[in-house]
Formats: sequence, structure tokens, C-alpha cells
Amino acid sequence: MKSILSFLGGIIFTLVVLAGLGYLAVKAGMVPANADGKPAALESWVANTALQAALARDTKELRNPIQPSEENLISGVHLYAENCAICHGASDAKPSKLAKGFYIEAPQLAKDGVEDDPEAASFWKVKHGIRFTAMPSFTTTLQDEEIWKLAMFLRQMDKLPPAVDAEWKKVPSVAATPAPN
Ligand code: HEC
Repeated sequence: MKSILSFLGGIIFTLVVLAGLGYLAVKAGMVPANADGKPAALESWVANTALQAALARDTKELRNPIQPSEENLISGVHLYAENCAICHGASDAKPSKLAKGFYIEAPQLAKDGVEDDPEAASFWKVKHGIRFTAMPSFTTTLQDEEIWKLAMFLRQMDKLPPAVDAEWKKVPSVAATPAPN
């Protein structure tokens, strides 16, 4: 009994010392707070693994209820132009000034697209956002139907019907925004 207690005491002591060292490291400025650096391997692993686990758990039952029509795809293009192009670029795939400064780079989707991802995965990312990155949640600002239209557009971005592609090409480049004063 006595040896179990001293063993447990040892564990608790070690945990307290580790927590104290962690606290001191944060207070001493040893944990980076800047956005103009690259994430550490452990940080990337935790963020990516958590995201994949959440997607696997939450998207199993998700099905796109929207008709795959040109009209809905064009709505997707317009929603993208209004809400996403500032970070993910237009069809020229040139990043805005804003996008160049993110800690975790925002992919320019015309170049590094998500056509291979299931629509449900893109739906989840847009609805809930991606923690630890600049990817916002649109849960309170877009309706589910609008998010599905966006997910459908993203899935077909590299093989759009001509009328939809023409609309996509009309979205103005964001390379120069926000405008310099
Ligand atoms: C303020 C900037 C910002 C806005 C606005 C934004 N995003 Fe993002 N988004 C990001 C960043 C940064 C990432 C990268 C996150 C990562 O790598 O985990 C991202 C990631 C994504 C991804 C995952 C890409 C991949 O390769 O897996 C998708 C899909 C996406 N965004 C779609 C959208 C859509 C659709 C909109 C508009 C409704 C939007 N985003 C608006 C910053 C933004």
C-alpha cells in the first residue's frame, strides 16, 4: 500500500513539475506568438489529425441535397466571389495581400483545388471552419443550401460546364486587394 502511494505521489509530483515548466515556458515567451513563421511538425500533426478525425466522424451521413444544375453551380460561383475569393483567389489563382500573410496558407483553389475531396468534406470545412487557421466558420452567415452550392462548385471547379466556367472567369482577380492607401 505504502509503495503504491509513493508511486502515485511520484507521478503527481512529475505532472506538477511538467505543468510548472510549461507555464514558465509560456510566460518566458518561448512559445511562438507570431504569424510570420512555419508551424512546427507536432503542431501540424495535431491540427491535421484532429481535422481528419472530425471529418471521418461527422461527414458519414452527410449528403448533398442540391440538384447538380448549372443554375446552382452559378450560384456557387457568386457565393464564392462574395465570401471566399479574398482568401482563396479567383480563376487566376493569384493570392490577395491578405492571403499572403496567413500563418497557415490559404490554398488558391483555382491552382490547388479540392476537386478530389468529397462534397461533404468541403461542406463541413465551410460550415464549421478550421481551427488554428484563418478559415472561418460560415455557420451563422450562410444557409446550408448555400454551403452545398459552394461545395458543389469546388468539387467541379476544374471541369465546369462552359456557361458556368464563363461566369467563374468573370470573378475579378484579388491579387491587388486590399487596395493600398
Ligand atoms: C479569411 C480567409 C478565408 C476565407 C474568407 C475563407 N477561407 Fe477557406 N481557408 C482559409 C485558410 C487559411 C485555409 C487553410 C486551412 C488549412 O490548411 O487547414 C482554408 C481552407 C479551406 C478549405 C480546405 C482546403 C484544403 O486543401 O483542404 C476549403 C475547402 C475552403 N477553405 C473553402 C472556403 C470557402 C468555400 C470559403 C467561402 C465560403 C472560404 N474557404 C473562405 C482561409 C479562408
